[in-house]
Amino acid sequence: MSDVKQQIDDLRAELAKHNHRYYELDDPLISDAEYDRLFKQLQYLEQSHPEFASEQSPSQKVGGRVSSAFQPIKHKLPMLSLDNVFNEEEFGLFLSRIKDRLALDEMPALVVEPKLDGIAVSLFYQNGKLAYAATRGDGETGEDITHNVLTISNIPQVLANVDAPEQIEVRGEVFMPKASFEALNRDAANKGDRLFVNPRNAAAGSLRQLDPNIAAQRGLDFYAYSVGFYDGGTIPGSHLGTMRWLASLGVPISPEIKKCKNPTECLDYYHDLVDRRNALAYEIDGIVYKVDDFSHQHALGFVSRAPRWAVAFKFPAQEATTTLQSVDFQVGRTGAITPVARLEPVFVGGVTVSNATLHNMDEIARLDLRIGDRVVIHRAGDVIPKVVRALSDVRPEDASPIALPSHCPVCGSPVEKLEEETIARCTGSLVCPAQLKESVKHFVSRRAMDVDGLGDKLVEQLIAKEMLRDVSDIYRLRLSDLKLLERMGEKSASNLLAAIDKSRKAEFARFIFALGIREVGESTSRTLALSYDSINDLIAADVDSLMRLPDIGPIVAQHICNFFSVDTNRELIERLQSLGVEIVYPPKVQEGAAQLSGKTFVITGTLNRYSRDEIKGLLMREGAKVTGSVSKNTDYLVAGEAAGSKLVKAEQLGVAVISEEQVLGMIQGQ
Ligand code: IVH
Repeated sequence: MSDVKQQIDDLRAELAKHNHRYYELDDPLISDAEYDRLFKQLQYLEQSHPEFASEQSPSQKVGGRVSSAFQPIKHKLPMLSLDNVFNEEEFGLFLSRIKDRLALDEMPALVVEPKLDGIAVSLFYQNGKLAYAATRGDGETGEDITHNVLTISNIPQVLANVDAPEQIEVRGEVFMPKASFEALNRDAANKGDRLFVNPRNAAAGSLRQLDPNIAAQRGLDFYAYSVGFYDGGTIPGSHLGTMRWLASLGVPISPEIKKCKNPTECLDYYHDLVDRRNALAYEIDGIVYKVDDFSHQHALGFVSRAPRWAVAFKFPAQEATTTLQSVDFQVGRTGAITPVARLEPVFVGGVTVSNATLHNMDEIARLDLRIGDRVVIHRAGDVIPKVVRALSDVRPEDASPIALPSHCPVCGSPVEKLEEETIARCTGSLVCPAQLKESVKHFVSRRAMDVDGLGDKLVEQLIAKEMLRDVSDIYRLRLSDLKLLERMGEKSASNLLAAIDKSRKAEFARFIFALGIREVGESTSRTLALSYDSINDLIAADVDSLMRLPDIGPIVAQHICNFFSVDTNRELIERLQSLGVEIVYPPKVQEGAAQLSGKTFVITGTLNRYSRDEIKGLLMREGAKVTGSVSKNTDYLVAGEAAGSKLVKAEQLGVAVISEEQVLGMIQGQ
């Protein structure tokens, strides 16, 4: 057999296997992008070698086989698929092909809509009533899923308009909104059941159930995207017209549907939706472009499995499969040990990914991950890439389990994992160069002490040369030391010293944040800074008094107390102060605070710096009352953004309306 024929046969067998996994088992072995790549490869080989054409090829067929668990339903018109394009050039070719075939000078109007990532269904209405519903199946014959479709609340069982054709088949996509999918998987995780791979598979799995009670609980949704067969009546003459007409019959259609008059509008729509993709309530994997005018559609016709008048412009894949080559353990600022997956580089979500976080050992156990596994990587938007699952069916024999190291990979100190915690930690504290590096990075960061110019590489060098043994050493650095470092000229050294000097005056909240106390972020640091008069007061605070502050629970309060109970931490603060670090406290004027005592406040709208509860806590600490509704007894209404009826009422009653800044000023006695 020729090499090419062998390659074609292999690809056909490979694709047939993946079709079976995807369409019939709802349990794909490879990502959609990889499937598309194999499919394109086969299409390419078949086109360049027409002598090997076969009607049995997966490139000529749609979807999967029909399961015998359901009644077969023969479609009155075949349910086809769509051709894909992956870039602007291929999309441009699609446009010129239709222009040429229709012998037009300009592009005909196209209708654009999201490509919903669900499953295609056909809804057959007889005299306005839903008679049956079917899956696409192999395109010719589908499976009867009427019992499940009847449970989808936005699918009308009766059409709103008696003028509809006597028989009309509405086609569209059943999909699972992201929120339903997350709820479903949360529930499955609680019950210890297997998780669903993605919303599409969950939707498909829900529709292919014999018991309709299951589908009923899955929060499925539907949007129509075309009319198939119809008889005994007419429909509008264009796609958009038909969609709007369907909507008037009570059939849900995508709110994103739009007409585009030229290629620029088509591409603008694409980019707009790529940007909004992650914010949509459901998954989409591209845009479908359709010639609007039905007479044009008829003139263009079909090729084997797909119409010539439509195309799917696929989005960059957010999932890809690759191999887990090894797992490294990184040590963070608080000693937390995070496993990181080292991957065979793979292009996903628009970038090449070779590392992904694995969070902690529980996550590795949940994924049942081994080194050597094929894994699915997900990268959406700017989110850090994640390993979402391991393909255990294709696990190599020599795949090896992943063990938590007993000793820190950086300093060799023992690793400790407490029963009640998911995170393992290096016990080396500041002896550990990794922890030291992370604490210095945090200490000098913009929102902490804000030392401009002390970047990661420099910190690494300073630690390696033992010029930094803890963060206070930053304030001992001298010009002569800095000049010894690589790539450090006199000018940058003196700029750095000036930046270090500038950071010596530190606002109280920033200083607290810079200390890097566990679970004490910026917001908690601000609360602490407003609540205690000095660092010594904070050091002396006990768990009970800390817990009285807004948003500080027992765990955070305990972390704060633990931190200050460690001698070396208190000594560090003293050392910093003796090296010239001066904590700048917010001004506190007694009379200002006294003004608040006994006053009644209402807080409404969205605030910028604090939550409403935080402001409430701060006001209550000063002896003010905070109530839920505005009345003539209200002294002040604190109004954030989008303040509504309370603002109107306050204005009517002549109650003073103040901003978040103003109330903070009052609290601080300014
Ligand atoms: S039109 C003859 N419009 O994508 C063409 N399909 O890859 C009929 N899909 O089988 C399809 N959103 O399941 C069309 N707005 C949309 C769609 C859409 C999702 C699915 C549909 C189709 C598959 C083809």
